[in-house]
Amino acid sequence: MTESPPKAPYTTNNAGIPVESDEHSLTVGSDGPILLQDHYLIEKMAQFNRERVPERVVHAKGSGAYGFFEVTNDVTQFTKADLFQPGKRTEMLARFSTVAGEQGSPDTWRDPRGFALKFYTEHGNYDLVGNNTPIFFVRDTIKFQDFIRSQKRHPVTGLRSNDMQWDFWTLSPESAHQVTWLMGDRGIPKTYRHMNGYGSHTYMWINGAGERFWVKYHFKTDQGIDFLTQAEADELAGSDADKHRRDLHESIESGNAPSWTLKVQIMPFEDAADYRFNPFDLTKVWPHGDYPLIDVGRMVLDRNPEDYFIHIEQAAFEPSNMVPGIGPSPDKMLLGRLFSYPDTHRYRIGPNYTQLPPNRPHAAVNSYAKDGPMRYTPSNASMPYAPNSYGGPAADFGRFGDPAGWAAAGEMVREAYKLHSEDDDWGQPGTMVRKVLDDAARDRLVSNVSGHLKQGVSRPVLERAVQYWRNIDQEIGDRISKEVNGG
Ligand code: NDP
Ligand code: HEM
Repeated sequence: MTESPPKAPYTTNNAGIPVESDEHSLTVGSDGPILLQDHYLIEKMAQFNRERVPERVVHAKGSGAYGFFEVTNDVTQFTKADLFQPGKRTEMLARFSTVAGEQGSPDTWRDPRGFALKFYTEHGNYDLVGNNTPIFFVRDTIKFQDFIRSQKRHPVTGLRSNDMQWDFWTLSPESAHQVTWLMGDRGIPKTYRHMNGYGSHTYMWINGAGERFWVKYHFKTDQGIDFLTQAEADELAGSDADKHRRDLHESIESGNAPSWTLKVQIMPFEDAADYRFNPFDLTKVWPHGDYPLIDVGRMVLDRNPEDYFIHIEQAAFEPSNMVPGIGPSPDKMLLGRLFSYPDTHRYRIGPNYTQLPPNRPHAAVNSYAKDGPMRYTPSNASMPYAPNSYGGPAADFGRFGDPAGWAAAGEMVREAYKLHSEDDDWGQPGTMVRKVLDDAARDRLVSNVSGHLKQGVSRPVLERAVQYWRNIDQEIGDRISKEVNGG
């Protein structure tokens, strides 16, 4: 819970020295010039000028809270990861966000939502940086930057542009599944508490015997899925742009701690080779009928941060933070992300970002890293190099090393994934439209897409968009055509 800060008896400058006035600068006579020797005034102006760090290049607007994760089911046959051991309770931090909007943008714009988690485990920080959707718009890291630019602002007008969005999507058919999801009800959650979270990528789990499994994470909201209609969201964007941030903070503050139940899908390692979908393709799900959900545990967010900037703005999540018992998969998006996040953190909040309160591991840090701006915790390593003969740490592969890999061989190529028997871009979104959505949800889908296409989308892009929807589902495409073309 947030508590009122203790009452300070008097104002000091940043060095703790009592200041003479909160009201008046030091001048020569009451109407005279301000003096450079008013060090407190200079400190105030200089500090203020440096208050901002750059906003995140994506997911700039967000909210977060601390809490815990507790294990409710025994999954040790699949992973030896410390946080998933029976009876375990691990402290954690969560940050939810929109993707394309800037820091001041409304919470209710249609967008996927980030679902970033940091677990402070005994073996270091485990970060699961997912979204509220199990899939994504592209399947190769090399397209991510283009995708994001098409969703952000137009270089000439500085405006968001539906034309850029549909131009990119219709030229990238692999986006169809995520776009169908986005344009449906789940594209605007009612609050952050009313959405699921997904690891989205396939990850690897490794058990105590060194056996490997492929895994997908599903955090199901215990508050129940709920959404806003486009009209409700538009209204809230004007009347309460911080609706979702307010809701999360106030719920926790009033003792109404939101929770999510973690379930996983597990695929035996050998199944991946000839599963009907390429299991590493981020534009696909594994149907529940093929790999059913298995309970793991529960995450509860019960503590608001004492300072938003320190704990949420400076939070640095990185998919590369994987602990023993968990590893990456050959997903080409995930592999790119392993580089991208620590790189952007070094730029955004500095090379010693791991020493900041939300990022500091609760486990001992025995790394050989040293120096750099704003470093304040000395290294545990007695000497700044390894190996050394002065008692410095040494890697313990026998204890922690995982066979967290897979066989890879072949020529160097720039090629799409190998197609599995049922791989195509339209099948799974078609299944969603026909089998998952009911009539009312299909009506809202048609209305959301048509409304979006009617705002500034140029003729050739519009025609491609209609065809795109016909490829997903002929009837839905025809209905959208009727709405936007009148026939
Ligand atoms: P299931 O019938 O077992 O699952 C369908 C799932 O769709 C539900 O469990 C629910 O996911 C999700 N869902 C329900 N309403 C919506 C909505 N309006 N927008 C987005 N998702 C919704 O079928 P399958 O597993 O065979 O999947 C069929 C299709 O469902 C897939 O092609 C995919 O488009 C979609 N889907 C599948 C998921 C999966 O991991 N298998 C996850 C999400 C969607 P949840 O229980 O996670 O809320
Ligand atoms: C944030 C890159 C795909 C989820 C970010 C940030 C970058 C980035 C640079 C800003 C981080 C920061 O400043 O703190 C990429 C790249 C991707 C990719 C290069 C593809 C190759 C994805 C996918 C997901 C995702 C597929 C979800 C499954 C998030 C989330 C955040 C984020 C949740 C916000 C983290 C926070 O709350 O601080 N991404 N991203 N990203 N990304 Fe990605």
